[in-house]
Amino acid sequence: MPITIKKLHPLFVAEIGGVDTGKPMDNATFAEIRAALDEYSVLVFHDQSLDDETQIAFSKRFGPLEMTGKANPATGTPFARQSNLDINTGDVIPTEDRRMIYQKGNYLWHSDSSFKPMPSLCSLLSARVVPPVGGNTEFATMTAAYEALPDDIKRKLEGLVAEHSLVYSRESVAPVGALTAEMKAELPGAWQTMVRENPVNHRKAIYAGAHASHVIGWPREEGRDLIQWLNEFATQPQFCYSHAWREGDLVIWDNRAVLHRATAYDTLGHKRLMQRTTVNGGLYTTAQPERYELAAE
Ligand SMILES: [Fe+2]
Repeated sequence: MPITIKKLHPLFVAEIGGVDTGKPMDNATFAEIRAALDEYSVLVFHDQSLDDETQIAFSKRFGPLEMTGKANPATGTPFARQSNLDINTGDVIPTEDRRMIYQKGNYLWHSDSSFKPMPSLCSLLSARVVPPVGGNTEFATMTAAYEALPDDIKRKLEGLVAEHSLVYSRESVAPVGALTAEMKAELPGAWQTMVRENPVNHRKAIYAGAHASHVIGWPREEGRDLIQWLNEFATQPQFCYSHAWREGDLVIWDNRAVLHRATAYDTLGHKRLMQRTTVNGGLYTTAQPERYELAAE
């Protein structure tokens, strides 16, 4: 049966129908989904039968998966767990617990793993337990935002590189307590070009978000002002889509082309469990010689 593609926003986001990503899929169908990701940046699938095993199998078709670091309870697995439930007991985690403070950073507009030397191609988020209200995930198209930029800003961004750091973004929402010294040691940050071009359709996108700390070679405050301006420009309402989750939803987004953020829900009154797999981008975005040396190891 052919898949169906229904656009959900004037600028991006498509709902893909007629397919269960938890079941075996032929290469032609997968190729349509992969092409749709380049075209629409965010793909929504309802009523999927995914479990952990089939989510990993389907995610790997996009590329190699990231292993989750020490800051997430699912460390050492390909899952970044987004939940208010203890991974071992299933009990609701108290608000003041480090694991909940850490998740506050998800309320900032960001691109997953932009703080890693090899950033992410796309993330796949599967809704396993969903609260009755709240907890939407919002997306903003960095491609349409780039195209709407004034020409002088586009010229200014050409060749600019920003440093991205998870320590920077987490400490901006929780100055103490979000990350331990051991977690910080694992997170040296990375340099990324501020404009990324899709290699298939050659559309350019702003690459900034909350992990972007400053512009390399610029006075720190001036770089921060530019990044803040870009983040605010690019997340204006006309560039944004809000996804209200249903259990069984899978959403895939292109981290090269959108920013996203979590929104609040009653973390003491309702349960929420989302499983994210993160696909590696497979290329460095900057021309730093030291980064390429790392790649050769
Ligand atoms: Fe995220």
